[in-house]
Amino acid sequence: MKFTLRIWRQKDPRAKGRFVDYELPDASSDMSLLEALDVLNERMTLRGEEPVAFDHDCREGICGSCGLMIDGVPHGPRRSTSTCQLHARSFRDGDVITVEPFRARAFPVVKDLIVDRSALDRIIQAGGFVSVGTGSAPEANAAAVPKQTAELAMDAAACIGCGACVAACPNASATLFLAAKVSHLGLLPQGQPERAERVLRMIAQMDREGFGACTNHGECEAACPKGIRLEFIARMNRDYLMSGLWSRPDTEAKGGFS
Ligand code: SF4
Ligand code: FES
Repeated sequence: MKFTLRIWRQKDPRAKGRFVDYELPDASSDMSLLEALDVLNERMTLRGEEPVAFDHDCREGICGSCGLMIDGVPHGPRRSTSTCQLHARSFRDGDVITVEPFRARAFPVVKDLIVDRSALDRIIQAGGFVSVGTGSAPEANAAAVPKQTAELAMDAAACIGCGACVAACPNASATLFLAAKVSHLGLLPQGQPERAERVLRMIAQMDREGFGACTNHGECEAACPKGIRLEFIARMNRDYLMSGLWSRPDTEAKGGFS
C-alpha cells in the first residue's frame, strides 16, 4: 500500500511545530501505524535525518502510551482500537494520513508526537489507590463480590490511561478517565475506606492540572479504545455528591455505598 504520512514535527516544547509530508510507497496492509512509523524512522535515520519521536510500549493495547491524533480522531478511525492496534488496512491505498499529538492544555507537547501525560499520573496519585491490606490473590478471591458488580468494576478497570478521552473532548476534560478510576475502586470492598476522600481529591487534582469541565458531549466515550461508558461519569458524580454526606471512616458499616 502507498501512503503519505502528514506528521507533526516539533523540535521541543517551545519550538513552533508544523506538518511535514513523508511518502511511504511500500507499506504492508498488515502493518500497524506504529510499524509504519518504525519503517519511516529507519529510513530517515539511514538518510541522516531526525526520526519522528512517538510514544509506545506494549503495542498490545494495554499500556496506554501510544495515543496519537490520526486524521483528527484520537487513535484513528476504528472504534475501540488503540493506535498500536490500528493497521494500514484500515485506510485506503493512496491515503494521506495526518498524524499529530493529542491536543490539550494539560498535555504539553514534548517533541513531535510525544505529549507529557503525567497530569493523569498525578490524578491517580491523589486518590487512585487503596490503603487496606488486600493479601494475595487467593485472599482477594475470598472476598465475596456479586458477579454483576465484579463485572462492572472490571469494565471500569479496562481504562488504560491513554488520554484519548481528553483529546476528544472539546473542553479537554479528563472526566471519563477519572470516572473509570473512581468507579473501579468504589465498586469493590477494598476501595471503600477511601471512597469519599478519593473522589474529592481526584476531582480537585483534575482541576489543578488544567483539564476542563465535563459538559456531556460524549466525544470521550466514542474515542475510548477500551469502551469506557458514560454511565461511569454518572456513577462518579453520585459519589461526588454523596461524599459530603457520608460519615467517615465507618461509612461502609452504615451501608452508605452501593
Ligand atoms: S477512559 Fe478510555 S480514553 Fe480515557 S484514558 Fe481511559 S482508556 Fe483512555
Ligand atoms: S503501545 Fe501500549 S496501548 Fe498502544
